[in-house]
Amino acid sequence: MTKPEVNVLNQIINAIKSTIGPPPCCLHEPLIDDSDLVSVKNNLNSGFVSSVGYDIQKFENLLCKLTGAKYAIAVVNGTSALHISLLASGIDKGEEVLVPSLTFVGTANAISYTGAIPHFVDSETTFLGIDFQKLDKYLQQNTNIINGACINKITNRKVSGIMPVHIFGMIGNMEKLLEIAKKYKLIIIEDAAEALGSFKNNKHAGLFGNCGCLSFNGNKIITTGGGGAVITNDKSLANKVRHLSTTSKVKIGYKFFHDGLGFNYRMPAINAALGISQLNKFDYLIKLKKKLHYRYLRKFKQFTKINFLTTYDHASFNNWINSIRLKESETTSKDFIISELNKIGYECRPVWELLPSLNHFRHCPSMDLSNATKIHSTVINIPSSAQLFKYSDD
Ligand SMILES: Cc1ncc(COP(=O)(O)O)c(C=O)c1O
Repeated sequence: MTKPEVNVLNQIINAIKSTIGPPPCCLHEPLIDDSDLVSVKNNLNSGFVSSVGYDIQKFENLLCKLTGAKYAIAVVNGTSALHISLLASGIDKGEEVLVPSLTFVGTANAISYTGAIPHFVDSETTFLGIDFQKLDKYLQQNTNIINGACINKITNRKVSGIMPVHIFGMIGNMEKLLEIAKKYKLIIIEDAAEALGSFKNNKHAGLFGNCGCLSFNGNKIITTGGGGAVITNDKSLANKVRHLSTTSKVKIGYKFFHDGLGFNYRMPAINAALGISQLNKFDYLIKLKKKLHYRYLRKFKQFTKINFLTTYDHASFNNWINSIRLKESETTSKDFIISELNKIGYECRPVWELLPSLNHFRHCPSMDLSNATKIHSTVINIPSSAQLFKYSDD
């Protein structure tokens, strides 16, 4: 370790400590209190713990109210929400779906589950989502529109969809996304797993395209233990998602039929009960998240070799995970810094490994990924649980 590396590390430790207090601190923990215990207990007492039950409908209604979506379908996790959305949107085997290389593995796995092929695209460095400007040029050079479909000139396969990901709750240039989708005839399925409570121009993440997918895993802004949801304003799509995720079940009198291959993906009511109490304190959660974000911003502002990741739009984002970005001259220190922060008890993480580096995606088409590579080598996620705001050294 060199002296400058230690200096940068000490600056980060001091900024984190003066923002959230002494270690240990996890990267992200749910905010669970007595109201959650009461809600789950009431569900247990009701006896309706599984996939029929009043609590599921109530949770879905609360999601609609919060996001402004006309329809919400609660499912077992965010990955199943993505899978079912691709199927319900008509993405077919052998087609290509554009997806960032810098995202959780579940985004691209869901594409592979359908028999379609992930086609990896680059990210932009402000919001960390897809670089739509760069993608436009790439598609112009590498695809043709033939009979109303976008065809990859190299693989000859149809490029049928695009999956923008709202990384860490940030929403990028949605005007450009819509322009590209129109130009290249792409279905938009938004991975809004990390973005519950994030808005841009008063529109919630996940509602810019055909549908959006949320996750309520234990590390997300609210949790249902494990869980996810599809949100959409498209009635017919919502009906398809609900049907496919309920084993394609049709009730006729007292009998059940299954009119196709379906999936047992519906969220159990006991999880929805936890979701209800979590959503009931959502405004409070968001308030804590915002305060934590701006306190971190204040503390990191003084340093020249470390940037705190923020944008003018952050006021309308959920501020799920806070991140710092090392100056490019400091990238060799990234692993050392993360390792030292974890050793002293501040759980910090690098961003995901780029997906084309994983064995099961090595064969997939990909564009130049220089921005994603840069983000991967400079960004560090730092402790971000809402309750950490309660610490104060002010
Ligand atoms: C960007 C992104 N996409 C998809 C998922 C998948 O959600 P889940 O873990 O609920 O399946 C997650 C969360 O883990 C995520 O962060």
